[in-house]
Amino acid sequence: EISCSLVGSEMCIRDRHRKMSLEEMKDLQLDEKHLQPETKEVRGILMTKEMSDNWDKIWNFQAIPDDLLIATYPKAGTTWTQEIVDMIQNDGDVQKCQRASTYDRHPFIEWIPPPPYPSGLDLANKMPSPRTMKTHLPVHLLPPSFWKENSKIIYVARNAKDCLVSYYHYSRMNKMVPDPGTWEEFIETFKAGKVLWGSWYDHVKGWWEAKEQHRILYLFYEDMKEDPKREIQKILKFLERDISEEVLNKIIYNTSFDVMKQNPMANYTNFPISIMDHSISPFMRKGMPGDWKSYFTMAQNEEFDRDYQKKMAGSTLTFRTEI
Ligand code: A3P
Repeated sequence: EISCSLVGSEMCIRDRHRKMSLEEMKDLQLDEKHLQPETKEVRGILMTKEMSDNWDKIWNFQAIPDDLLIATYPKAGTTWTQEIVDMIQNDGDVQKCQRASTYDRHPFIEWIPPPPYPSGLDLANKMPSPRTMKTHLPVHLLPPSFWKENSKIIYVARNAKDCLVSYYHYSRMNKMVPDPGTWEEFIETFKAGKVLWGSWYDHVKGWWEAKEQHRILYLFYEDMKEDPKREIQKILKFLERDISEEVLNKIIYNTSFDVMKQNPMANYTNFPISIMDHSISPFMRKGMPGDWKSYFTMAQNEEFDRDYQKKMAGSTLTFRTEI
């Protein structure tokens, strides 16, 4: 079952439920808990088997100079940044930004979902330019054509503890990523970088260094939350766009957490429940810097900080864990 496609295997299980005794159902629940996508590393980075099997195609993706790429570690505020960029590109026209879901508006270049969903590569190859795309790839795995073509890249980073909490809940609700296990287990998995897209520490540091050589606007989730106007203005300058004060205010409003949470084209509720179950944890969960304090025990926090100092030693990159 693990090897058949995700949607298919859930259907197999539902069929089996009908004919089963309660005792057998208990065993089945154990099976279901372990039902998760297969993973396979690419150059030391954990990916889904589909991504790994299609790695050559992903690596050879052809970027063009007017492409814009939004790059992040998972859960750093990707969707939020995508919405801001789309609103800028559409001069604050809310209806135009609701033309399709986030997934369809901005191809997620390395992502290969279960059928019938198109892969990021397919969406990107069909999209007329100028394209805006998304990636979670660590810097050394970015298709080299992005560097060669000098495409603009917006990188958004979020502090490790809030990223970890957000990734934990996301892994509980999204059946396309591995089950996180218990909270205690997931802290260790995250610290070891054995999650999809690898180590948070290497990701944020790698992109931080890359910005010295490439056209990368490096933003922080905490700054965006503290002063969205200031950060949107940075994006405008980077994209060489000018908008009126009125449009700017409209963008700030429509990309706020509360408004995006209600927007079906930005909150991922149009994915089937068999893939994303928002009753377990909504995709638009809290959107608050410092939420990690509700999860880490004192001991977990101290141990996390000790390990963090070691992993981030020597880097000039600093984060705020609350605002
Ligand atoms: P939480 O789980 O902490 O709430 P990504 O898009 O990279 O997957 O990131 C998702 C995280 O960004 C979630 O964090 C989500 O709630 C948060 N987020 C999405 N839109 C946001 C917004 N407009 N303002 C603040 N946070 C937002």
